[in-house]
Amino acid sequence: MPLNSIERSGERMADQPRQRNLKGLLLAGGKGTRLRPFTYTGTKQLVPIANKPILFYAIEQLAANGIADIGIVVGDTKDQVVAAVGDGSQFGVSVTYIDQPVPLGIAHAVKISEEFIGNSPFVLFLGDNFLKEGISRYVEQFTNGGHDSLVLLSPVSDPQNFGIAEMEGERLVRVVEKPQHPPSNLAVIGIYFFNAKVFDAIRSIQPSARGELEITDTIQRLIDDGLDVRSEAIAGRWIDTGKHDDLLEANHLILEDLQPALIGSHDEASRVEGRVVLQEGAEVVNSRIQGPAIIGERTRIVNSYIGPFTSIYHDCLVADTEISGSVVLEHTRIEQVGHRIEHSLIGRNVELHGHERRPHGYTLILGDFSKLHMP
Ligand code: DAU
Repeated sequence: MPLNSIERSGERMADQPRQRNLKGLLLAGGKGTRLRPFTYTGTKQLVPIANKPILFYAIEQLAANGIADIGIVVGDTKDQVVAAVGDGSQFGVSVTYIDQPVPLGIAHAVKISEEFIGNSPFVLFLGDNFLKEGISRYVEQFTNGGHDSLVLLSPVSDPQNFGIAEMEGERLVRVVEKPQHPPSNLAVIGIYFFNAKVFDAIRSIQPSARGELEITDTIQRLIDDGLDVRSEAIAGRWIDTGKHDDLLEANHLILEDLQPALIGSHDEASRVEGRVVLQEGAEVVNSRIQGPAIIGERTRIVNSYIGPFTSIYHDCLVADTEISGSVVLEHTRIEQVGHRIEHSLIGRNVELHGHERRPHGYTLILGDFSKLHMP
C-alpha cells in the first residue's frame, strides 16, 4: 500500500509500524437493506468512498497500527469481499475469512470467530464504520491500560438508531441497543476493543427481541460482571456509512484531505482546478473539474462540469452534464442531463440520458426501491 493511502485513512504512521499482539476482527457480513437500491448488487462494506472501498480504510488503519492478523466475517457477499481484499498482502496483512451463513448479530459474528481470536486481545471493527482520525490513540490506550474492554463514544442526533451509553460521571454503567427513550445522545461507535473474556460474556447472553446476539448486551454483561470496561469519547469525526446521507458525508470528509494527483489526462480546453485526482486512464475533454474531486480509472468526462466533493468511479462516462457533491459508481453513463445533478448517489451500470429535443419527457426504467427527485 502506498503511504499516501494510509495517510488518507486518517493515520500518520511510519512505513513499518511495530507489530502488535492485538488481532483485528472486521465485520463484512449482514445485509445492506438500508442502502437499497444503491447496494442491491454490491456489498455495502465495499461501496467506494473517494473511490476506495470503505472496508479498505479499516484494513489500512489496522495495518498502520501493526495489527497484521485480521479476521473478516463474511456472509452472502463473501465472493465480492474475497475478490477485493484477497489474502491481505496488498495491505501488508494476513486475512482469515470467517463464514457467517446467517447474520445473527454482531456478538454472534464475534462468537464464531473465537477459534481465530484465541487468547489475543482484539479490535472489533464494523466494516461500514469510518473514523477519520484513525485508531492509534485508542490502540495505545487499550494496550497500555490493560483493560478488559474499551468502547468509543460519539454524540449523535438520532440516538434511537444506535447503541447508547449511560454514564455516571466518567463511568460507563449501561449500554442499550436502539432505545426508544435514550438515556443520553452518546452512541457506542462500531469500533470496540476486547480481550478473550468477551467470549464468556457472549455465551451468557440471549438473543434480543429482533433475534440477534447484541454487542451491547455483551458489553453490559462485562460491566455487570465487574470487569474493567472503559469508555472514551472520540475527538474526531466518525461515520456509520450504512445510511444514505452518511455516505455522502464520508465522501465529503475524505475528499477534504485529498492529495491532488493528475495521473490521467486532460486536454488544453479543459480546466482542472483545486485538489483533483485523475486516476490512471481517466480522460477529461473540454470540461471543467472543480476540486476536491476524484475521477476513476478509464472514466471519460466530456463537455461537462464536475463540481466539488464529487467522486466518479471507474469506467464511467459523463458527457454534456453538470454534477456536483455526488458519488457515482462504476460503469455508469450520464449524458445530456439538463439539470445539475447534486447531492446524489448513483449506482453501478446506471444509464442516465437527458433529451435535447422539446417537449421534455421522461423515459424511465427504475428498479425496486429507487428514489428519484424530479423538479
Ligand atoms: O455503527 C454503530 C452501531 O453499529 C452501534 O451503535 C450499535 O450498537 C450496533 O448494533 C451497530 O448497529 P447497526 O444497526 O449499524 O448494525 P448493522 O446491523 O448495520 O451491522 C453493522 C455491521 O456489522 C455491518 O457492516 C454488517 C455487519 N454484521 C452485522 C450483523 C448483525 C455482520 O457482519 N453480521 C451480523 O450478524
